[in-house]
Amino acid sequence: MKGVILAGGTGSRLYPLTKVTNKHLLPVYDKPMIYYPLQTLIDAGIKDIMIVSGRGHAGHFLELLGSGAEFGVKFTYEIQDHAGGIAQALGLADDFADNDNITVILGDNIFQDNIKDAVQSFESGAHIFLKSVPDAHRFGVAEVDVNNGRVLGIEEKPAKPKSDLAVTGLYIYSNDVFDIIKTLKPSGRGELEITDVNNHYIRMDKMKFTMLKGYWSDAGTFESLLRASLMVRKIA
Ligand code: G1P
Repeated sequence: MKGVILAGGTGSRLYPLTKVTNKHLLPVYDKPMIYYPLQTLIDAGIKDIMIVSGRGHAGHFLELLGSGAEFGVKFTYEIQDHAGGIAQALGLADDFADNDNITVILGDNIFQDNIKDAVQSFESGAHIFLKSVPDAHRFGVAEVDVNNGRVLGIEEKPAKPKSDLAVTGLYIYSNDVFDIIKTLKPSGRGELEITDVNNHYIRMDKMKFTMLKGYWSDAGTFESLLRASLMVRKIA
């Protein structure tokens, strides 16, 4: 299993905090934001980790994180030239993955759960992590059949969510994800959507999910950044 942290994007929702630095380097309580998704991968036993960032401030990731030796892991760095979506950024990890399975985490997502069991028992297809939230319309939203434990479909930021289950920014895929990404067309917002990738696995009946028990938040808006900091402080 290899790991990928996606730290691209322009951070426009946090402007002017992101005028002279990258969103993922901003503080969440007492650590740079990217430390949290990194720790989630490390706690899952993943040792080979690629960090995909945009062009702006890319060198700062290197300065902050280095080779990975300090964390007991090995980092590889990749640049996403233009913000083309999560799935496009993930596509850049094709050679790095080298036929292995991959666990992908968004650089602005903060998880309390340990996902080691899901990572270590993963066989094939895809696996997502769901969390009940009060503001589902901000996220990918999963419709789930509780009777047979199946995901029926995912809608990206629906005006009228079919459930309160947010699809969090953490995904496990088998290596065929890179073939799927090659078939994607840009969405209305001009991006290759990770939700389209996930719906592909759902159609093939190869999607599994875990309900997260602990705290989860993104940190890409002023409100969620503050909430994430307060939450981290509380459980620290
Ligand atoms: C992205 C995904 C969305 C997911 C969210 C988690 O949204 O597109 O499906 O629920 O991350 O943070 P974005 O933050 O790019 O708007």
